[in-house]
Amino acid sequence: MADRAVKAFVCGHPIAHSRSPKIHGFWLKKHGIAGFYDAIDMAPENFEAFLGGLAENGLAGGNITIPHKEAAYRFADRRDAAAEEIGAVNTLWFEDGQLCATNTDAHGFAANLDEYAPGWTKAGAAVVLGAGGASRAVIFALKQRGFTDIRIVNRTVARAAELADRFGEGVSAHPSDAVSELLSDAGLLVNTTALGMHGNAEIPADPSHLPDHAIVTDIVYVPLETPLLAAARMRGLKTVDGLGMLLHQAVPGFERWFGVRPEVTPELRSLIVSDLGAK
Ligand code: ATR
Repeated sequence: MADRAVKAFVCGHPIAHSRSPKIHGFWLKKHGIAGFYDAIDMAPENFEAFLGGLAENGLAGGNITIPHKEAAYRFADRRDAAAEEIGAVNTLWFEDGQLCATNTDAHGFAANLDEYAPGWTKAGAAVVLGAGGASRAVIFALKQRGFTDIRIVNRTVARAAELADRFGEGVSAHPSDAVSELLSDAGLLVNTTALGMHGNAEIPADPSHLPDHAIVTDIVYVPLETPLLAAARMRGLKTVDGLGMLLHQAVPGFERWFGVRPEVTPELRSLIVSDLGAK
């Protein structure tokens, strides 16, 4: 019955750029589920009231994006280990009337590399560029997948130091000018800064300093091939773009709300690639 249809959402400010409605819409259609997944633009001053009214508005849960991920973390009744360690959440759902929260960005990051760079967990030392919210999810994933030498490089080294303290053993903080040396024996380079996004030609680090076996990945996916990935490819290195992280982070939420674990397929990827190209 239509009035029983499950309703979920993505909430951010702004939200027009979000590809999440396309991703979840694809899966709803594919599985023949009469559910809804809509984008909701909510200014920060109204966000808590919005979360407080989810149940009475018939919403089963949803995704949370910039700038609300920390506020949602604070508001949730229950948080899992990923949420606690990352300190920000992107997925909410109800269990026994309680608002539960997790962060699926770490899962998305790892699942993308599992798909496109099998064996990546044996890369050795990892260099992570950036120390913001996205960096926290990446570091959590790296620690979970067994990395014991994680080098955070950030323009503002104090932010990198804060993260190194937060994540403890095996995570170190470095200023930007140390990057060439840090790359020389690293097996994985991850960019979590916005450098390279939307036609910004700046490269956050020079991949020519990496050894031949290194893997380079970017969480930026507009453009799909960032200047960093292009430089790494020219250098002959294995590269993985950021779109898979976006697609894979959506999987656990869909499963919570709609009861089916969806798949990230080439068809879904093509749909989103053409949507990115169209805007
Ligand atoms: P997100 O949640 O997406 O990670 P964020 O918390 O704003 O966003 O973090 C952005 C990251 O990109 C930070 O590491 C930032 O460096 P600072 O901590 O020094 O600000 C980095 N960043 C943004 N613009 C940059 C630039 N022009 N050069 C170098 N690093 C930059």
